[in-house]
Amino acid sequence: MKITIIGTGYVGLVTGACLAELGNDVFCLDVDQRKIDLLNNGGIPIHEPGLEEVVARNRAAGRLRFSTDVAASVEHGEVQFIAVGTPPDEDGSADLQYVLAAARNIGRYMTGFKVVVDKSTVPVGTGDRVRIALQEQLQARGVDAGFTVVSNPEFLKEGAAVEDFMRPDRIVIGHDSTPEGLQAAALMKRLYAPFNRNHERTFWMDVRSAEFTKYAANAMLATRISFMNELANLADNVGVDIEAVRRGIGSDPRIGHSFLYAGAGYGGSCFPKDVQALERTARQYEQDLHILRAVETVNDKQKLVLGRKLLSRFGAYLGGKHFAIWGLAFKPNTDDMREAPARVLIRQLLDAGATVAVYDPVAMDEARRVLALDLSAAELARVRFASSPMDTLDGAEALVIVTEWKAFRSPDFGQIKAALKHAVVFDGRNLFEPDVMAELGFEYHGIGRSVLTRN
Ligand SMILES: NC(=O)c1ccc[n+]([C@@H]2O[C@H](COP(=O)([O-])OP(=O)(O)OC[C@H]3O[C@@H](n4cnc5c(N)ncnc54)[C@H](O)[C@@H]3O)[C@@H](O)[C@H]2O)c1
Repeated sequence: MKITIIGTGYVGLVTGACLAELGNDVFCLDVDQRKIDLLNNGGIPIHEPGLEEVVARNRAAGRLRFSTDVAASVEHGEVQFIAVGTPPDEDGSADLQYVLAAARNIGRYMTGFKVVVDKSTVPVGTGDRVRIALQEQLQARGVDAGFTVVSNPEFLKEGAAVEDFMRPDRIVIGHDSTPEGLQAAALMKRLYAPFNRNHERTFWMDVRSAEFTKYAANAMLATRISFMNELANLADNVGVDIEAVRRGIGSDPRIGHSFLYAGAGYGGSCFPKDVQALERTARQYEQDLHILRAVETVNDKQKLVLGRKLLSRFGAYLGGKHFAIWGLAFKPNTDDMREAPARVLIRQLLDAGATVAVYDPVAMDEARRVLALDLSAAELARVRFASSPMDTLDGAEALVIVTEWKAFRSPDFGQIKAALKHAVVFDGRNLFEPDVMAELGFEYHGIGRSVLTRN
């Protein structure tokens, strides 16, 4: 099938590469000339396990191409996926300017029938706005070409995006019941057939319900995280081990084990903005989403918890004190630092007068970029970008772990202890067992585990 992907970011690039892998002829469009040049020169703009190989293989096979040529992109695909960003607007609502610009571009150039698929995460009703934006362009041109708008939200996880796309746990497709809508559904069924061979994974619904499903999923996941974080803070106060509680409740099949980890707060490009956008949608209907507001408040506070623990251990003024930080990306297997808890921690420590040495297995370049935006030149001078985990440790008062990279799970504790000024570990992701750490001679601070630390 001939497919166009508009927006070659995390979602667009993965979608394009994976659909090409299945034999489709894919045209990826972006407005960012540098990104397109990089891809055309064999580079990859993001860190995503397995992606580079899929892109290289399909480029070589001629099934995947990258361009900034809008007219050619509209001409190419019978199916036009819109996968551009939907960042938060000033009021927290999803900013649809890129989605609508993409829709207008399709209307500006199309000559025959097109299925326009919203893959970006967009608020309920965006399908209608895309239809109107596109229709206006057709009318202005006096062209009567058929099209229909389908919603197909993306559920991939950064860090496992290729795997998630190739083995989805569900495919959500919203379409209308006009003849064009039914024609589009048949096309989508054919496109996604390879993913449904083992068993049917597609959920068919109307466009608005599909749009809503994506927000509901992210809101639910964010809720589980904030729920556990709030309980972890209480666990610290009442002398309970939150990890024991997590296992104890996760074994209930109605609850399940996933997404019950207490930690340093959620970040990334999706949960924070999607929770906000759903709240904003509700406010437009004069409804308050009380639970989601609390989820957001708890998360904002949780990002401060690690820093507060450090301040209460070492004092409010940290001048002359140095700290080692492991993990900068908002989660493992990505270099994405959007809304990353590490940024909040670094700000807290620098504000208190400390210096820090930081390390992340893949996010170092991104860290240099975002920290240069977050910090003044004088503040940035108090951040050392280390070349390895061990390179952060010399003379540090404590090691602080912010991202649960696999490479941090079984470190050489002897070496850590020898390099640190004090054998103190703040574990923002509960990677280690407090009793083991105590045996190894460390003062250990986890999240919601102080009962074990005290014993
Ligand atoms: N990142 C994720 O893990 C994830 C997962 C599921 C859903 N989503 C959703 O998918 C959407 C895209 O997210 P992303 O993380 O891939 O964004 P991104 O910022 O990585 O990529 C968006 C790309 O679109 C390009 N673009 C903007 N306007 C354009 C236009 N008019 N024509 C062509 N290209 C244009 C940008 O240059 C950029 O390269 C968002 O709505 C997001 O919420 C993201």
